[in-house]
Amino acid sequence: MRLGILCSGNGSNFENIVRTCVRHEVVLMIHNKPDCGAREVARKFGIPSAYSVNEKWMVNELKWAKVDLIILAGYMRVVSEYFVESFDHIINIHPSLLPKYKGLHAVEQALDSGDKVTGCTVHHVTKELDSGAIIRQAEVPILPDDTVETLTRRIHLQEYSILPYVIDNYDYRRVG
Ligand code: GRF
Repeated sequence: MRLGILCSGNGSNFENIVRTCVRHEVVLMIHNKPDCGAREVARKFGIPSAYSVNEKWMVNELKWAKVDLIILAGYMRVVSEYFVESFDHIINIHPSLLPKYKGLHAVEQALDSGDKVTGCTVHHVTKELDSGAIIRQAEVPILPDDTVETLTRRIHLQEYSILPYVIDNYDYRRVG
């Protein structure tokens, strides 16, 4: 598949996809923070990348790049209905066991909740934030002395496992 990736931050999931999903090609990475780590990852691997906050431009570029699947990998912005309706296949990785703890600060919320377990979710993207059909989840235990940092790190490790799995098994010819 031809993959298009949207990022805002460190880009560690993006890097993991590049390293792991070797049967696929990341043809474009678009970031909405000018100097984020994802930009460095793109440079390191020679992947075409662009900074933009203009969704119309983004849609045009992604269509021109003929992407089969768009992956929101740490993209900290809600995509519009226009964006969602422009593509058949968009997925997102979120650091909680959805439907719990949608939106920002999902790790903090899980930690504050007293829950014994949290995790991460790969799901289809719809116009409702973090609400599309769930494709795959992984659980991560919350340990008594966990901090946001330690828990985030362990959730990331599971993200590095489930996101490539979903990509490798994704049927982009499926309609709807
Ligand atoms: C991940 O925890 C992901 O679940 C969330 O944003 C984070 C991105 O991290 N949506 P990175 O930029 O891939 O390191």
